[in-house]
Amino acid sequence: MDLYEYQAKDLFGAHGVPVLPGHVADTPAGARTAAQELGGTVVVKAQVKTGGRGKAGGVKLAADPDEAQQRAEAILGLDIKGHVVGRVLVTPASEIAEEYYVSYLLDRANRTFLAMASVEGGMDIEEVAATKPDALAKIPIDPIAGVDAAKAREIVAAARFPDAVAEQTADVLVKLWDTFVAEDATLVEVNPLVRDPQDKVIALDGKVTLDDNAAFRHPGHAELADTAGQDPLETRAVQRGLNYVKLDGQVGVIGNGAGLVMSTLDVVAYAGEDFGGVKPANFLDIGGGANAQVMADGLDIILGDPAVRAVFVNVFGGITACDQVADGIVQALGILGDAATKPLVVRLDGNNVEEGRRILLDADHPLVTMVDTMDDAARTAARLASTGA
Ligand SMILES: Nc1ncnc2c1ncn2[C@@H]1O[C@H](COP(=O)(O)OP(=O)(O)OP(=O)(O)O)[C@@H](O)[C@H]1O
Ligand SMILES: [Mg+2]
Repeated sequence: MDLYEYQAKDLFGAHGVPVLPGHVADTPAGARTAAQELGGTVVVKAQVKTGGRGKAGGVKLAADPDEAQQRAEAILGLDIKGHVVGRVLVTPASEIAEEYYVSYLLDRANRTFLAMASVEGGMDIEEVAATKPDALAKIPIDPIAGVDAAKAREIVAAARFPDAVAEQTADVLVKLWDTFVAEDATLVEVNPLVRDPQDKVIALDGKVTLDDNAAFRHPGHAELADTAGQDPLETRAVQRGLNYVKLDGQVGVIGNGAGLVMSTLDVVAYAGEDFGGVKPANFLDIGGGANAQVMADGLDIILGDPAVRAVFVNVFGGITACDQVADGIVQALGILGDAATKPLVVRLDGNNVEEGRRILLDADHPLVTMVDTMDDAARTAARLASTGA
């Protein structure tokens, strides 16, 4: 998960990295109030998850609250590389003597972590990296040893930071490493890290990518997630711990296990060719433990997609046997009641398949069609989706 600049700087601040205060606003009037509260000259900064905001006109100085409002008016709604600006950060303008660059990242190619630093930071760092590779120091970081004061000084020396800011920069590097480790990030970047006329070092920008695989260790990170632009069904699926992906066809697909679900998508798309190009509308992997509640949650999400005209439930019984899955489907339909309105094609195979099929036959639910093979079931689902019946 990538963070917004303001979120990244909140994390930096929490780990002792020097940052400036700021307020986030989603209206020009809000930016005005923020500028008033901060006082003095401010900077209005587009909050989008992409770089190059400054060059795109998304970072502007404002001398007073009136100007902050005007700047926000111009920046809100701006399209920066496909990201439409919905919020701005209003923060005090800093006097800048020099702009530096520092970052830590996961260096997958070399199977290690990497520190990068340059005294030629700012908006042209990509250009510097491309044309003057010597000006960008790259130091591998041992994940166990990490970055202590000595390692930080090594980075500072390699990048040739001026003596006046060497100790402060080393201190920032240690704290940024703390941030990187404590928050389970795969990237932390500060560009620019500035030196002001009083030789004070401040992080004026921040970029952080958090490792989603470590999310379970950070309950607090959930609130950093940006659910505003997300499909509400995806949000619901994540809340219930289900893997749901929206596609653009008409057949809802539920299966257990990523491999089975992927091949189900292929089979549905293939069968759909005979029915005017019917395709999968979405898919949901209910994983190994397909009890009644998981099945109900899954069906609820799949049926909540208005594009779905028929659902294909394709389950291979393993540790969770077919009879448990069949029980799950029957109970799920009971839980959903009138909310379930679309035809369900169910194909069960594997452990306890006979018992599973008997349960579905006995339940004799009007929406459920049982089909024995995957190909025939895909065909039936595609046909039902194409007729909408
Ligand atoms: N608080 C501030 N005070 C004064 N100048 C600032 C401030 N914040 C940013 N700037 C100036 O604006 C430039 C661009 O800002 P910033 O680096 O935050 O955005 P960016 O262009 O998106 O950067 P990147 O491409 O690195 O993501 C900075 O290099 C700096 O010169
Ligand atoms: Mg920047």
